[in-house]
Amino acid sequence: LKKITAGGDGVGLRTYDPGYTNTSAVISRISYIDGDRGILRYRGFPIEELAEQNYFEVAFLVLYGDLPSRPQLALFTDAVMRHCALPSSVEAVVAALPHDTHPMAVLLTGLAALSGAHPEQNPALAGEGVYKSRAVQDKQIARLVGKISTLAALAYHKSTGRVATRPNQRLGFAENFLFMLDANGVPNYRPNPRLSRALEIMFVLHMEHEMNCSTAAARHLASSGVDVYTAIAGAVGALYGPLHGGANEAVLRMLARIGSADNIPAFIEGVKAKREKLFGFGHRVYKNFDPRAVIIRKDYALADEYFVSRKLYPNVDFYSGLVYRAMGFPPQFFTVLFAIPRVVGYCAHWRESLVDPDTKIIRPQQDYRGVWLRHYEPLAARA
Ligand code: ACO
Repeated sequence: LKKITAGGDGVGLRTYDPGYTNTSAVISRISYIDGDRGILRYRGFPIEELAEQNYFEVAFLVLYGDLPSRPQLALFTDAVMRHCALPSSVEAVVAALPHDTHPMAVLLTGLAALSGAHPEQNPALAGEGVYKSRAVQDKQIARLVGKISTLAALAYHKSTGRVATRPNQRLGFAENFLFMLDANGVPNYRPNPRLSRALEIMFVLHMEHEMNCSTAAARHLASSGVDVYTAIAGAVGALYGPLHGGANEAVLRMLARIGSADNIPAFIEGVKAKREKLFGFGHRVYKNFDPRAVIIRKDYALADEYFVSRKLYPNVDFYSGLVYRAMGFPPQFFTVLFAIPRVVGYCAHWRESLVDPDTKIIRPQQDYRGVWLRHYEPLAARA
């Protein structure tokens, strides 16, 4: 586009696209969304076919492009589970945070601390060769996919005052996560299999979602060449916001504020008058229905003209918050449950960006509307 100029010294054609609603920033092969038809596919597979499959199998697919063979799955599962334990320096950083730190802030801090604990990708420290090594990248992915669940368990127990039980490598992904939360030091404790199953489905549904706000943030940071831990800490920061991953927590707060069914009509009038936001409704891409929400709750209908005309349907966060509440998680923790599997998607995009021949540092233009030119006046001369 830069080459399309009106005159000899023109700056070229620029698009002003706030929120990038019409701008493709990357070419990707990871996931596909058709918002009008409510389609979501990971690597070409419909989400409906993947929702109930094994976490590691779907994670491998998202990360590496194909379903794993039996040996590949065993190796990947082993690598992730072996890397669940956290370096003591990261545990110490997390332990130093106040007990009432929001669990997402704990996650952010822990991820940033991982960058210091595993500095091998930093080209200044390790040199270009290591930076580009596939084996190092795979190790970093295994670390992040595994350690995020352990960090989440530490974040959970910040507020309970209990100690997260160390990971159990022999358990499934969601099962081990519940083990770290609930085992309370009992080594042969087994989490409720129905809860592990339900959580694994929720994890698979949240694993990847193309160029959403936080994945775009991950790619933005990665485009500068920063290490993957820092890039993903930045992405998790974007996920924290209530218009994005933080919406599942905001849904529960909103429902608590509404209080009872009698107050719903007045609340909806507030939404129509733009005094309120209906968290868990609406989506930048899904303007028909969110297929992940359909899997969680199979039937819903929307009759109100305000919502129909704006194509506002319940999104995944509306139902995920309700499911997590039913499972006994506190609302503060809901966004962490979103972040755990989404780290797989972030890592897939990071890996894709490293081999994309079109990758360049992301640096949008701006349209300057400020004062054109003025001159400095010394402080003494100013009124
Ligand atoms: N409640 C009330 N009105 C809404 C809502 C909502 N949740 N969402 C959109 N609208 C209205 C807007 O006010 C606007 O109305 P107008 O045309 O009269 O001005 C119209 O619908 C279009 O909305 P936009 O804001 O242009 O839609 P956009 O694509 O920019 O925003 C977003 C998408 C941020 C998700 C928005 O729908 C929202 O804030 N939803 C609530 C937060 C939420 O649930 N986020 C989770 C999204 S899923 C995820 O990130 C995992």
